[in-house]
Amino acid sequence: MGAEIPVLTIDGPGGSGKGTISALVAQKLGWHLLDSGALYRLVALGAQKQGLALDDEAALGDYARDLDVKFELVPGSTEVRTLLAGEDVGRQIRTEACGNAASQVAALPAVREALHQRQLDFRQPPGLVADGRDMGTAIFPDAGAKIFLTASVEERAQRRYKQLKEKGISVNLADLQKEIAQRDARDSQRRVSPLRPAEDAVLLDTSEMDIETVLNEVLDICRQRFAGVLSTS
Ligand code: C5P
Repeated sequence: MGAEIPVLTIDGPGGSGKGTISALVAQKLGWHLLDSGALYRLVALGAQKQGLALDDEAALGDYARDLDVKFELVPGSTEVRTLLAGEDVGRQIRTEACGNAASQVAALPAVREALHQRQLDFRQPPGLVADGRDMGTAIFPDAGAKIFLTASVEERAQRRYKQLKEKGISVNLADLQKEIAQRDARDSQRRVSPLRPAEDAVLLDTSEMDIETVLNEVLDICRQRFAGVLSTS
């Protein structure tokens, strides 16, 4: 899609608040939202349903290339339904097990390559908020604004724990913290598109910030960087 369509990238580790902030900013600006983590989660879930091994790079690459996914807005709400081959898998992809499996398939170059164009296709007018690990470094290096959100492992584990509990998914906090640290290590140390801030990203440590404060900081950055396109909103 055209490079003239504005993009805001929000990268960072799990639990840094990027999912929540990205959704709020997209809503506020009236822009599209790319939850790239969901794509990796969908590949992991679908591959497991098909009985594919999580290290079978060639098979996973083919599967990712043909991934039959639809994100459908539930009429009359802001809720998005995630359909994998027609099945609503919104809840299944949010488990920690699926997140960990996603992190394994995400380390495979063939899978990343297969999902590259699909992510670019989300760049549609009037603009895109792209949430992930490599949005600012690999997928949209020309983005008009790049943000990298971080928070301590302890704080991120607490947040995830609360989120999962609200969804009725029960987990052990200590195990969760260990899994988050392992996932961080895998995501940061992988050979292709590791988790790291783009050189021109604004770094925000959200450990001590509430959602509203982070949202306001991000919106301030958008107003500065996208002054021309946001002048009417
Ligand atoms: O953000 P989320 O927790 O949904 O991402 C799940 C996993 O997908 C991450 O741990 C990471 O390994 C992978 N991912 C990625 N690149 C992205 C988004 C997610 O490698 N842009």
